[in-house]
Amino acid sequence: MEIILASNNPDKLREVREILAPLGITVLSQAQAGCRFEAEENGTSFTENARIKALAAVAATGKICVADDSGLEVDAMDGGPGIYSSRFCGDRTYKEACRDIMETVDRAGARGARFRCAVVCRFPDGREIACEGVIEGRIGRVYEGEHGFGYDPIFVPEGYGRSMACLTDGEKNAISHRGRAFRRFAEELKRVMEGREQIC
Ligand code: IMP
Repeated sequence: MEIILASNNPDKLREVREILAPLGITVLSQAQAGCRFEAEENGTSFTENARIKALAAVAATGKICVADDSGLEVDAMDGGPGIYSSRFCGDRTYKEACRDIMETVDRAGARGARFRCAVVCRFPDGREIACEGVIEGRIGRVYEGEHGFGYDPIFVPEGYGRSMACLTDGEKNAISHRGRAFRRFAEELKRVMEGREQIC
């Protein structure tokens, strides 16, 4: 089946395609669906922001649309930048934003962090599937790795000795917040499509 991902982020699109392809779900970009828009993410949680994007995409296409909202929560920053992860980087490079976080964490001495991803899928008839995925870890002492995107080079997943940017896409997707959230979503979607729905 085909589903539209309400995102203009090519890194996310690549990851979500890789996660959902083995489950028989083809992901179309907004451009492939013939619409380009940027919904205003003014929600107060990852799930609210994902819902805002999914609803805007359904309004534009009239088709089933899925959106994710994700970010990095750092203990030394009281859970920030969280839903403001993209805005925290702002006009800087991600390398500069990563260095900023590393300095804060070094000063505080608390390295705990996690990536969180909320997925919301909206159907044109108003039904909704909402799921979440989390990966726990810590902020590393070095900026390392060439894969992934955003804050991956400073995030060391629990049980690993290197950053998420040192993992291949396949390795990252197997453990990541986005991988977990979208695989849960795919299970729910399958139930809905088979008419055994219990939509959250
Ligand atoms: P949004 O979900 O498009 O609003 O953006 C989330 C932001 O969080 C991204 O721009 C990245 O800065 C960060 N982020 C989310 N997921 C990841 C990830 O898998 N790796 C690195 N950074 C991420």
